[in-house]
Amino acid sequence: MPTIRFKEHDYLSAGDESVLDTLLRNQISIPYGCRAGACQACTLQAAPDQIPDDCQPGLTEQQIRQGHFLACQCIPEQDIDVNAVDISEQKISATIIDKTQLDERTLRLRLSCRLRWRAGQYITLWINNIARCYSIASVARLDPFVELHIRAHPHGLFSQQLFNSAEILDVIHLQGPLGHFVYDQEFANQPLLLIGAGTGIAPLIGIARDAKDYGHHANIHLLALDHTTENYAQQQLDALRNSAAIFSYQTDLTDNTETIIGNQFPSLRGQRVYICGGEDFVQKIRKRCFMLGASPRDIITEAFINFGSQR
Ligand code: FES
Repeated sequence: MPTIRFKEHDYLSAGDESVLDTLLRNQISIPYGCRAGACQACTLQAAPDQIPDDCQPGLTEQQIRQGHFLACQCIPEQDIDVNAVDISEQKISATIIDKTQLDERTLRLRLSCRLRWRAGQYITLWINNIARCYSIASVARLDPFVELHIRAHPHGLFSQQLFNSAEILDVIHLQGPLGHFVYDQEFANQPLLLIGAGTGIAPLIGIARDAKDYGHHANIHLLALDHTTENYAQQQLDALRNSAAIFSYQTDLTDNTETIIGNQFPSLRGQRVYICGGEDFVQKIRKRCFMLGASPRDIITEAFINFGSQR
């Protein structure tokens, strides 16, 4: 089994375990978040010739040249010397300027910070050594803040801390933005179908507003699915509908999703489809849209990572 050398100690990898899992199993305290290659919180450094393929997704050319890699994605094939990376330069400070509970489970945070972003991208929020990713609902050209919709998870330490302890004017740290789940002007003549479950509609609201502001020519329909009939973002959706004739939306229960899509859109040929929600939801709806005729290149997805009780 390969050995992982970190801070002058050797740790034996247990088979197909990632570098992150080996270090955590040995009670080494290193930052991490999603464990899925998205948040970049677990970035470490090693000699480039020791780094396996496929464990540098989303890193910049410069980071790759410096031998950075994502510990959660790295299953070593040989002994590897790894070093901590100071990512403090990649983090920026943000001030909480609004904290509003949209319903009993959903919090809206607005952050003031110096950041260039596109609606639909995600950022990594940090509390101490733990990181979580959240999609951006606001449009940089229109809103002087980054808006996040955060769902409370009953035993989720991170979301509970934001719900219970975060206060207006608190300063928190974030990384990013990351991701390509954004509106593309090149497709301004194609109808857009935006399908989101839970707070998966947050980036879709941003994408719809971005498209409208860019002068999108075709219809935009948003399907918001949740386990309650009253959607937490109803007011935002109504405001968008009242301001844009091309925009319509509908809310419904998640259980009916595939039927609803099939009934309303017997053919999705020529539609550009954005899907956002939990991994299972995104996979299921992606397949359904493909079966209904949407071209794979027109289906853009963003899946939330399941953090279980840590969320
Ligand atoms: S990218 Fe590794 S923990 Fe998120």
